[in-house]
Order: sequence, then structure tokens, then C-alpha cells
Amino acid sequence: MTFEVKKICCIGAGYVGGPTMAVIADKCPYITINVVDLNQERIKLWNHSDLNKLPVYETGLDRLIERCRGKNLHFSTKIRENIEEADMIFISVNTPTKNKGLGAGKASDLKWVEGCARDVAKFAKGHTIVVEKSTLPVKTAEAIKIILTAAQKSSNSEKKISFDVLSNPEFLAEGTAIKDLEKPDRVLIGGENINAINSLSKIYGNWVPKNKIIHTNIWSSELAKLTANAFLAQRVSSINSIAALCEKTGADVREVSKAVGTDSRIGCKFLNSGPGFGGSCFKKDILNLVYIANHFGLKEVADFWENVVDFNTFNQTRISQLIVKKLFGTISGKKISILGFAFKANTNDTRESPAINICKDFLEEGAHLSIHDPKVSSLQIEKDLGIEEQKTTQSNLASEGSWCFKEKITDAIEGADAIVILTEWDEYKKLDWDKVSTLMRKPSWLFDARGIISKINIEKTNLNFWSIGDGSL
Ligand code: UDX
Ligand code: UDX
Repeated sequence: MTFEVKKICCIGAGYVGGPTMAVIADKCPYITINVVDLNQERIKLWNHSDLNKLPVYETGLDRLIERCRGKNLHFSTKIRENIEEADMIFISVNTPTKNKGLGAGKASDLKWVEGCARDVAKFAKGHTIVVEKSTLPVKTAEAIKIILTAAQKSSNSEKKISFDVLSNPEFLAEGTAIKDLEKPDRVLIGGENINAINSLSKIYGNWVPKNKIIHTNIWSSELAKLTANAFLAQRVSSINSIAALCEKTGADVREVSKAVGTDSRIGCKFLNSGPGFGGSCFKKDILNLVYIANHFGLKEVADFWENVVDFNTFNQTRISQLIVKKLFGTISGKKISILGFAFKANTNDTRESPAINICKDFLEEGAHLSIHDPKVSSLQIEKDLGIEEQKTTQSNLASEGSWCFKEKITDAIEGADAIVILTEWDEYKKLDWDKVSTLMRKPSWLFDARGIISKINIEKTNLNFWSIGDGSL
């Protein structure tokens, strides 16, 4: 048996809620989907007639929005009305790491999730399936259930309400969100009531093969999500640790990755060394694992995972320090061109981007940064760096660090002492380095922290070249 789902409400119109609902709307024209958010500005952008203004940049998202918006996909701030009418509610709000109180620095702040559960308890009518979409610590479903059960018990016979809680973690990666949603490796649904599980499976069944829809108990589902992200992050830290060793030993990390990745037991993905992992999930999810492990008295387990995050921080500092050392031990007053600010290519997201810490280190050293990124706005960079943009050109002698944003790559490079590539955007791979070197101050340096530039392309230029993990340079 399944419950009939005709109306879905998704609370949270962010990087996860927006694209996920767009794909469900596209694949299930018989379901009406209302995406609601507290943030009016964000909703305005989701409803903007110019599809370039959508608040989330994902390849193919504009096409889906054009097809479904105003038909069976709606964005609004009408939280109450849409909860009242929904048969199924996705909770897709943010769960940042707590910065104060119990578990500060590690545990997730669940106040938004709890707030949503309370809204659902207050406004829902009839039977409602509540789906946890946000990545949450194990046992969050229990808290949601307690809130909903209390409401259920106190509901009167006129307004009888009931709930099922499911965990349906999201595995989409930013930049490939639509592809990941349309062709997922798996869909994970954790829960107790098989009818509720089947109802959600039926929705995914419209485009996902049955054998890819996995049913588990609710705790396994919550923990599987954290584990998947922790394993991926661990691979990035592992290869970055080997990159540092390559630089000392004359090995090339790309060759090592290739050799290691051809072992089918290891696999070739997630073996690109770089400035470290960023994004909203990896650090937060590992810190959650650390918190849970400590909570259950498993200190060694907690330490094991905490090391992955600590190494990631070390890796960023390692890169900024080695750049300063190569530039004669000082970058005060020097112009450094930063290519890429997003935490990875094909997204406008900068959350936990390694560029933030690396740029802060350079600013601290008194450098003048000219930053280019094809998708990130100068306003976002200002928020992340916590320093106002300096629009007028700084005198080279000014000792306070400063930064400015440049729309064009050539403007960012002009007169620079060094270029630092921090995001692997395609357009950086295609640059004519011979031409680039003529625009820079001599001696000029190229630091490729993503390992995307082939040394053959640099050999005939005047550039000094450092590439992550390449000990042959
Ligand atoms: C979030 C979580 O960070 C992640 O752990 C989870 O896997 C999915 O949800 P994301 O969609 O990337 O990821 O977050 P964000 O882009 O910040 O979007 C969350 C939205 O929820 C924001 O637009 C915020 O305004 C909204 N929100 C938050 C509400 O509408 N109501 C609230 O009570 C809190
Ligand atoms: C991740 C998970 O992949 C996704 O399943 C989950 O739902 C959310 O978290 P995302 O954060 O969007 O997705 O990006 P991802 O592609 O996983 O990359 C994370 C970070 O690792 C980025 O900073 C990226 O540059 C870095 N990375 C990734 C590397 O440095 N090397 C690699 O080989 C792969």
C-alpha cells in the first residue's frame, strides 16, 4: 500500500531543495510542488524572469525551471498554507556547525530543523509524510518524531493528524546536481512504515530503476550519508598528504594517482590533489561524526576522523606558506592574482572554499590580491574575507593587504608577481601562458594548486612554475 502524494512542500530553497524539487517536478507532472523559504530575496530570485538570476547555478537547472515553474513547481514564502496542503514535506534547511554552547565547533545546529518540525506539527492536516533531506546527525529523526508525536497526541478528533518520518539523504554534488539527481548511483530511503517508504519510492520510481532505490532503517540511512561524505573527504586528504610527499621526493602525484586508481578495489575517482576539500558538507559531516563518536565514548574513532579535517586545514596553510617562501619570503606590497574562488569548478558556492583561508593568509602578509572567478560575485568574496573591496589600485608599497575583483582574467593578471590557481575552472586550462607571462611583473610565478596546467605549456615561457604534488619541477 502507498499513500497518495499529490502535493509536496519543500522547506528550504537552497542548493539542495531547489534543484531536487525541480527534478521531481519535471519527472512527476502529476505532483504539485511548493518550495518555501523564509528568505524573501531568495524566493524572488527563484521567480525571476531572467533565468541567469536564479540563486543557484547548476548546468541544466534553468531548462527545468523554465519547463515547470508556474505549472507544477512554485516558489513562495507562504510556509503555513503550503504545509497545510501538503501530503509530503521535505525538510531541506541548513544545519550549520554550532558556534557556541554544547557541542560548539562540532555538532550541527538543529534549530532550523526543529523549527520546521514545530511548524509542520502546528499546521499539517490529515496524514503527512515528513522527509529529512538535510544532512543530519544520527538520531535527528527521533527528535522530529517526538515533536510530531506530541502534536499528533494532542490533536482533536475534528482535526486528526498523523505523521511518518523518513530519512532520504541527498548525494548530489554541486556543479553536477541535475545529472546526479536524474541518474543517481542510488536513492536511500530510511524509515519504519513500509507504506510511507513505498510512497516515496513510487515518486523516485518515475525515473530511477527499482534496484537503485535502497530501503534501510532510519538510523542506517542517516549514518550512511555522513559516512559517504567522510569517506570522500578522507580520500581527498589522503591524496593531498601524498602530494606533499611527492614534492619532496621527486614523484608526481598525478602519476601516483593514476597508478593507484587503476586498482579496481581503489577506483580512480576523488584522487585529484588540490588545496583541500571545501563545500558545505564535508567538514560539517565529519565533525558531526566526531561529535557522535565522542558522545558514545569512542575517542579513538573520533580522533581518527578529526585528523581528516585537521589535515585539510594544514594543507591550506602549507600552500600559502610555500608560496610566500618562493616569493623571497615576503609578499607584502606584491600583487597576487587569484584565479578561482569557488570551492570547486562549475558552482558559485564559496562555503568552506580553501580560497578563503589562503587569501586571508595572503592579506595578513600584506599582499594586494586581484581575484577572478567566473561565477562568484565580489559581494560574496567581501562577505567571506570580511574585508571591504579596494576598488582603486593600491600603491605597491602599501603594507596593509587589500583585494579587488576583476571581471576579466587578463585584468586580474596585469602586473601581477604571481598567479595562484585555486579553482579548476576550464577557462584557466585554456590560457595562453606565453601571452600571460608578458602581462606580469618579472620574475613571475605561476602556482597551480589544482594541478590543471601541463608543464609542457609552461616550459617555453618565462614563468617560474609550481604545481601541487609535482616533485619533478
Ligand atoms: C542544506 C544543508 O546545509 C545540508 O546539510 C543539507 O544536506 C541540505 O540542506 P543547502 O540547500 O546547500 O544545504 O543549504 P542552503 O543553500 O543554505 O539552503 C537552506 C535554505 O533554507 C535557505 O534558503 C534558508 O533561507 C532556508 N531556511 C532556513 C528556511 O526556509 N527556514 C528555516 O527555518 C531555515
Ligand atoms: C559532496 C558530495 O560529493 C555529495 O555526494 C554530497 O551530497 C554533498 O557533498 P560537493 O560538496 O558538492 O558534494 O562537492 P564534491 O564534488 O564532493 O567536492 C568536495 C570538495 O572536494 C571540493 O572542494 C573539491 O574541489 C574537492 N575534491 C574533490 C578534491 O580536492 N579532489 C577530488 O578528487 C575531488
